[in-house]
Amino acid sequence: MTAPVAVAVNAVGAVLLVLATMACGADPSDAVTGEQVYMANCASCHAPDGSGGVGTRLNDGVTVARLTDAQMTAVVADGVRTMPANSGKLTATQIAAVVAYVRYDLQQP
Ligand code: HEC
Repeated sequence: MTAPVAVAVNAVGAVLLVLATMACGADPSDAVTGEQVYMANCASCHAPDGSGGVGTRLNDGVTVARLTDAQMTAVVADGVRTMPANSGKLTATQIAAVVAYVRYDLQQP
């Protein structure tokens, strides 16, 4: 009677292992999500490549060097001067993703 129990325990263990791997692994979709957030919410003013327009140029290293992640998060969430706030429409996760996208993926080589 122990064999079915062992099988059941192993099955639960396998499921937990899969869940733990999903929870702990680096999320490969972060960059995609940050890009999607940027294209949908920022590109209209800052241009798809970050070269600027109505909004500041973001892709030349200057703005990201001047602002910490916390400061950029505040800019995105609360807006600054003529830039509108996003806290009502973007989650904290989406804001963190777009800040990382601007800092690491948008910059020109
Ligand atoms: C409606 C147009 C508009 C949208 C949409 C917009 N911005 Fe801006 N953004 C601006 C303008 C205008 C400024 C310059 C504000 C100023 O300094 O007067 C700016 C400034 C910034 C700055 C620099 C702030 C500073 O201190 O120099 C960052 C970083 C930034 N935006 C990121 C973003 C991100 C990320 C998004 C998308 C979530 C976004 N913006 C969406 C218009 C916009």
